[in-house]
Amino acid sequence: MLREVITYPNKLLRLKSDDVVQFNQELHTLLDDMYETMIDHAGVGLAAIQVAIPLNVLIICLPNEEDVQDKADLIEAINPVITHKDGEQVFTEGCLSVPGFTEDVKRAQSIVVEYYNRDGEKQKMECDDFLSVAWQHEMEHLSGHLFIEHLSFLKRKKFEKEWKRKLKEQKK
Ligand code: CO
Repeated sequence: MLREVITYPNKLLRLKSDDVVQFNQELHTLLDDMYETMIDHAGVGLAAIQVAIPLNVLIICLPNEEDVQDKADLIEAINPVITHKDGEQVFTEGCLSVPGFTEDVKRAQSIVVEYYNRDGEKQKMECDDFLSVAWQHEMEHLSGHLFIEHLSFLKRKKFEKEWKRKLKEQKK
């Protein structure tokens, strides 16, 4: 089932999410709905708080070499923790909760992350480049932060001005 993606400046996006304690059907339904919603919005990642559920749950599905989002590549992560970060990279990011806006963000080049899959089995992944960016971006949602917080003071001011204008136009 498709869920509504909440967008900036919805205050829910500032909530710190809680750990999942039960790996039950409700969690599986949430994960299935998040996947459907992410694909419907042409996104490559989604955190549960973006569908207004404050739980430490995120999904990532990057396009493969043929530029296809294959469900076989879907990562479902419950209660993820980044245990190691290394290096630096700058990547142009976007976010389904800040639709239509992209900006360069500096993050770690490579990370190690530990998490649980939908069945509560512990997983560990080492990754770099785009996948590492996606992980760090989605993890930030779980702590109640957005990628626009990385912008310089002036870029952020410009963004806020443009965003307000856009919201006003949508209300008309
Ligand atoms: Co996002």
